[in-house]
Amino acid sequence: MALSEDFLLELRDRADIVSVVSPYVNLKRGSKTYVGLCPFHSEKTPSFNVYPENNSFYCFGCGAGGSAITFISRIENLAYLDAVKSLAQKFGMNMPEDGYDDTLSKRRGRILSANREAAKFFHSTLLSEEGAEALDYLLGRGFTLKSIRGFGMGFAPDRWTALIEHLKKDGFNESEMVDANLAKKSTKSGRTSIYDNFRNRIIVPIIDLRGGVIAFGGRVLDDSKPKYINTSDTLIYKKSRELFALNYAKNHISDGKIIIAEGYMDVISLHQAGFKNTVAGLGTALTNEQALLLSRYAKEVILSFDSDEAGQKAVQRAIPILTSAGLKVRVLSLSGGKDPDEIIKNHGRERFQALIDGAANDIEYSILEQRGKFDISTDDGKLGFLKAAVNVLAAEEGMLERDIYASRLADEFSVEKSSILIQVDEACKKLMRQRSRKEQGRLRRAAEMMGLPPNRNAKVSTRASKAENLLLSTLLNNPDFFKKLEGSLHSDDFSDEFCAELFKTLSDRVSKGMGIDTEMLNAFFSPDEMSRIVKLQVDGARVVGSLDVCHDCIKTIKEEKIDVEKINPSELSDDDFNNLFKSIKK
Ligand code: GTP
Ligand code: MN
Repeated sequence: MALSEDFLLELRDRADIVSVVSPYVNLKRGSKTYVGLCPFHSEKTPSFNVYPENNSFYCFGCGAGGSAITFISRIENLAYLDAVKSLAQKFGMNMPEDGYDDTLSKRRGRILSANREAAKFFHSTLLSEEGAEALDYLLGRGFTLKSIRGFGMGFAPDRWTALIEHLKKDGFNESEMVDANLAKKSTKSGRTSIYDNFRNRIIVPIIDLRGGVIAFGGRVLDDSKPKYINTSDTLIYKKSRELFALNYAKNHISDGKIIIAEGYMDVISLHQAGFKNTVAGLGTALTNEQALLLSRYAKEVILSFDSDEAGQKAVQRAIPILTSAGLKVRVLSLSGGKDPDEIIKNHGRERFQALIDGAANDIEYSILEQRGKFDISTDDGKLGFLKAAVNVLAAEEGMLERDIYASRLADEFSVEKSSILIQVDEACKKLMRQRSRKEQGRLRRAAEMMGLPPNRNAKVSTRASKAENLLLSTLLNNPDFFKKLEGSLHSDDFSDEFCAELFKTLSDRVSKGMGIDTEMLNAFFSPDEMSRIVKLQVDGARVVGSLDVCHDCIKTIKEEKIDVEKINPSELSDDDFNNLFKSIKK
């Protein structure tokens, strides 16, 4: 898949950034830039800038940035090629016939349409004669018609081919229905036929951030098993990457807080009770991708899983995943019901609010959990608990938090706070050594899958990173420097992978005589990487870049490279490790 440079250049000229952004953002003209309220995060004072000169945009509030293509791909949540297509269409250009393959994208489009049609069918069935019992069930559980409509809930008839027949009338063929997982194949005595996947079930459509119906959950009306049938992964749906109701919740995240519940019904019930910042996973344990997705919209997660054993296990698994994605975690200990839906039904919204207000943060929760494992009326138990608590604190990165909880423990158990902190320090050192490269690789891969800029770990020296960023922002604003610096730096010299990749791409293009406009870089970088690129560009434009600056940067990059290579924490002695730790803290 490669669109020709000529095509992209023409697209860039026609689809100027101001007219692309204008329909979505009320832009005010400044001297060199246009500013407005950022459409990618909620803000009251504008920090979203559009730069007609570079045909790019950048938000100083949330760091979103890129070209016209990135903008469309972000705001409409489109894949690169689909964003190009949408822009081309809008600005009267034909997509080149060859050079890209759109069979997959057509197939995705068909699945989306079939799903949309199915959702309409399920919804109208729920409100028809055939759905009377299901509607009674939902109303009986306390869901209002407003919620039922708002979430587009439906009912799948108790028949084998109700939906199939309906979709056939709308021109969908059997293989499309099977691809969408709306129908399943069965082979009996050599004959293959298809039947409805969802039958006699309450239907909850799963809607993505663009408003597309990507999947369904179907719940039985009684106690039969399985309780839920969910759409399995399809061309348009990966359940490990999506969150139920994020499309609604993302507009209601105040103070950066988001609630995660376990089930669809909990989410709907919480929204109905006014907790509209609630989402749920889709029948799997919380994944890294989901955590990273959440971290785009929220800073803090309130885990509100069921109070049963399975729910509490899920909490324990979720905490490290969420914190690795940079999210703060609070854990509700549910009382007065097994899940949020029950608590609200039994005790009202105030009760749930009170639980949220009293929610333990992740350290508190983990310490409480350890406490439960020991008999602290005995000396052995006390010691065991303190050791376990020390380990919990060691895993916590915030120094302030460590201090606070160390004080509390010291008070409660009448020990010296300083001796707790020394223990924490020891445990922390051990932990840092254990944190294997494997773990970091795992996070990086998850980030890459999400198209997020990899979260550079502490191993990249800040000095190197500053030099790499400065060099690249200078180069982005002075492409002619590449020739003059030729041979003095190789992409392997960079310690930050993204910088290395950007440097390589830019020098390749310049050496072939091609331009390095943002628009041209889209094909190589994800939207989040594009944000970083435009940030570099914007930063660089504020200073006068010179060759001397570049030479200094290159010198630093090379020096730091040697330093990083020298240090292998796993081979350091405790003392050396300690010193290294101290020098890092400085
Ligand atoms: P209610 O019992 O109606 O309140 O359902 P709930 O939405 O609260 O769901 P529950 O807490 O029982 O389960 C949590 C989530 O796990 C559901 O929303 C489903 O995504 C998933 N789940 C539950 N039961 C099943 C099942 O039998 N099969 C599958 N595949 N997923 C299930
Ligand atoms: Mn439930």
